[in-house]
Amino acid sequence: GAPVEMDITGMQPGELRTIEWRGKPVWVIRRTPEQVADLNKNDANLADPKSERSPDALTPVYARNEGRSIKPEYFVGVGICSHLGCSPNAKFDKGAQPSLPGDWLGGFLCPCHGSTFDMAGRVFKNKPAPDNLEVPPHMYLTDTKILIG
Ligand code: FES
Repeated sequence: GAPVEMDITGMQPGELRTIEWRGKPVWVIRRTPEQVADLNKNDANLADPKSERSPDALTPVYARNEGRSIKPEYFVGVGICSHLGCSPNAKFDKGAQPSLPGDWLGGFLCPCHGSTFDMAGRVFKNKPAPDNLEVPPHMYLTDTKILIG
């Protein structure tokens, strides 16, 4: 499939936009300063906090950091659960998932079998999803345009 261009002009902190790439939903999220600050606070509850598993397939080299992103403020990820392919729901509010092990700092909840992901698409240890969400190949064309694919 051809690369697609995502316009992020005017995105507000806490906003999510979706674009289709190769038939998959790709999310761009503008993280709030608090969400950026929280990225390295919950590693003990994450299955693969540094994205070291299948790094080439799931996380491009330039996104192998706590935020899994080029810029800390923006996360670009494929919105498809690594378990059986459902689309996780955004749950950005802290404290919204009291049943999780450890403190919930916001992220995504898969409605199918309860896998949870943080604001960088990293899966929690309680799974069942085996891996973090995919980060697609992408680059910034300008400050407000991202090329995905
Ligand atoms: Fe997401 Fe099973 S498809 S937890």
